[in-house]
Amino acid sequence: MRFDVITLFPELFAPFLVSGVTRRAYESGLVEVKLWNPRDFAEGNYRRVDDRPFGGGPGMVMLAEPLALCLERIRADRLAASPGGAVSVPTVLFSPTGGALNHAAVEAWSASAGAVLICGRYEGIDQRFINAFVDHEISLGDFVLSGGEIAAMVLLDAVVRLQPGVLNDEGSHQFDSFNPALDGLLDCPHYTRPERWRGQTVPDILLSGNHAHIERWRRDQRLALTQRVRPELVTKARAQGLLGAGDEAFLTDLVENPDQDA
Ligand code: ADE
Repeated sequence: MRFDVITLFPELFAPFLVSGVTRRAYESGLVEVKLWNPRDFAEGNYRRVDDRPFGGGPGMVMLAEPLALCLERIRADRLAASPGGAVSVPTVLFSPTGGALNHAAVEAWSASAGAVLICGRYEGIDQRFINAFVDHEISLGDFVLSGGEIAAMVLLDAVVRLQPGVLNDEGSHQFDSFNPALDGLLDCPHYTRPERWRGQTVPDILLSGNHAHIERWRRDQRLALTQRVRPELVTKARAQGLLGAGDEAFLTDLVENPDQDA
């Protein structure tokens, strides 16, 4: 799997690629990341990559041509790296006007051959480049970042941790929040040593050694949390037939006794 990242700030990615549980995936080449700066494809002494918007208004717009030359170089580089192989991966632009990123999209990218990730800066990118080259626009949410670099790192991190063997405990992402293969509910709270910390204790049941009870407690915690902060996810799980009789009994009890401790 290979990702090419087009960014005016490639240095932002260096610490990200050498840190944390995903580091080995990058270092071993399981996931290859190549960084490309559109400034290297810009003309003139100033290597200009932006200009004022036609029609007036604040801010600057990224020029189409340096981005197009950069993308074409990436395609040539991919072709040289795997002659006859799949060179044509999708082109993704991170932008607040894109579709929201979610678990299903992350899983799909995780099973793909990779992508070219374009990090916008300034007020945006000349629309003609987007028309000509961009396949997907992705947003992290209803807010505006100063650039797409953090969004690209978010996608990379979420995708890479799903690759087989990346997490220490193989398969531990199966119990992630939002995993539809499980039930799409939020994750339960977690505790570790010491048993008493600043006056707070660990729920007795987690120390009981009774695994059936612990599983039921965790499930109830997940149901209670999801019902409180993301009730639509409970509705979805129910519609998909993913809630059992024990779950429904717990949720009914929760409605009747909303202050109870799950
Ligand atoms: N670039 C600027 N804002 C963004 C957002 N909300 N999501 C992704 N990329 C962005």
